[in-house]
Amino acid sequence: MGSNLARNLASREGNTVAVYNRSPERTRVLVEEHPEAGFIASETIDEFVASLATPRTAIIMVQAGAGTDAVINQLAERFEPGDIIVDGGNALFADTIRREKAVRETGVNFVGAGISGGEEGALKGPSIMPGGSVEAYKTLGPILSSIAAVVDGVPCVTHVGTDGAGHFVKMIHNGIEYADMQLIAEAYDLLREAAGYTPAEIAEIFAEWNTGELESYLIEITAEVLRQIDAKTGTPLVDVILDQAGSKGTGVWTVQTALDLGIPVSGIAEAVFARALSSKPAQRAAALTLPGPSSAWSVTDKEAFVEDVRLALYASKIIAYSQGFDAIVAGAEQYGWDIKKGDIAMIWRGGCIIRAQFLNRITEAYAADPGLVALVTAPYFTDAVTAAQDSWRRVVAGAAQSGIPTPAFSSSLAYYDGLRAPRLPAALVQGQRDFFGAHTYKRVDREGTFHTLWSGDRSEIETEGSSH
Ligand code: 6PG
Repeated sequence: MGSNLARNLASREGNTVAVYNRSPERTRVLVEEHPEAGFIASETIDEFVASLATPRTAIIMVQAGAGTDAVINQLAERFEPGDIIVDGGNALFADTIRREKAVRETGVNFVGAGISGGEEGALKGPSIMPGGSVEAYKTLGPILSSIAAVVDGVPCVTHVGTDGAGHFVKMIHNGIEYADMQLIAEAYDLLREAAGYTPAEIAEIFAEWNTGELESYLIEITAEVLRQIDAKTGTPLVDVILDQAGSKGTGVWTVQTALDLGIPVSGIAEAVFARALSSKPAQRAAALTLPGPSSAWSVTDKEAFVEDVRLALYASKIIAYSQGFDAIVAGAEQYGWDIKKGDIAMIWRGGCIIRAQFLNRITEAYAADPGLVALVTAPYFTDAVTAAQDSWRRVVAGAAQSGIPTPAFSSSLAYYDGLRAPRLPAALVQGQRDFFGAHTYKRVDREGTFHTLWSGDRSEIETEGSSH
């Protein structure tokens, strides 16, 4: 990804790009393979720093973790006040907050920038989510705008917010990516297991869906993956891929962070758990003999079923994005970032893995009402879920009855019903907590905090607040 980003930078008018890699051989190969880039190559970090015009700007593209700290320290020792170090990897935002503070004390700017779009995006135009100081962005903004994807003439980059805001938003992007991918996978599984479609047929269904409101990069590539025939066996590639999903960890961070922030991210969490479950071969082998439902789903009207699955996918996707943006709002509040949700949706319209026509609708929703308390309550999305909910319920119920696992579909529906319920069983939970722990409760009809004397005469007393 680093090489492609360097090539992208070098391909833009007015940019001269210096390159350095801890392994000189990799630098040599890059320069030899791309003479058109006019790279200024260095074999040592000192040579590299000396080759940069001031204010120096270095973009680090290394695997998140200790390696990042090592390179940052090497540069920070050699850079001067006003220079800029950019971490373009998937660093944990908390690490970026720490690093930005430490480097800023030397007068050097440190920017954690989420860069989304994979290898292709890095070369042709990613979506870029830089944090760091407003000062640094004055220099960095034009450089990043010159390489970002462009949608309707607008580069997919914005100054997300200070210190770790960029990496925080990139993390949420990845969490939404996990949910999106899981929802698509569940739709595929339903079409395969309940309606008996083949991978090739499902590819065509996804290609058709990609012409409507579900249009997106992930739907597009899903059709390509399902069309692929394995050269060795002549069977669909998807049938020879081991069904154990990996994860580099950004989805896990999203769920951990959302839990700390008290934000339900059902679809993202179920996507992370689904990957974890898939990677438990011993348990799965042992569970193979567990009984399932007595009958499989016998779909009679396949066309209607496909439309039900499409609508269930769209409704669940709306919930996943609504929850993702809730996490962004909560993170901004917690860390003191002024993150504009509409701008984030706008820069996600192109370049990134979750790029989709759908992001235009989110941009419009936040433009119409920047204070929107829940994306799903925006008129466009309320209408979409209203049109989808019967299908959504049929699909989730049918999947449960026929033993097809749809954790993201069903948890998204449960969240939707919880969000709109006028009364929740949380009232009983409060009663239970007060019974065994005297944790007190509020009342619907009076101000104050109360406790029932469960082990005494069961009268209710007013208290000053919950006990520990
Ligand atoms: C992107 C992607 C990328 C992600 C890889 C692997 O925005 O370009 O989100 O950053 O790290 O796709 O992610 P997982 O291994 O966690 O699935």
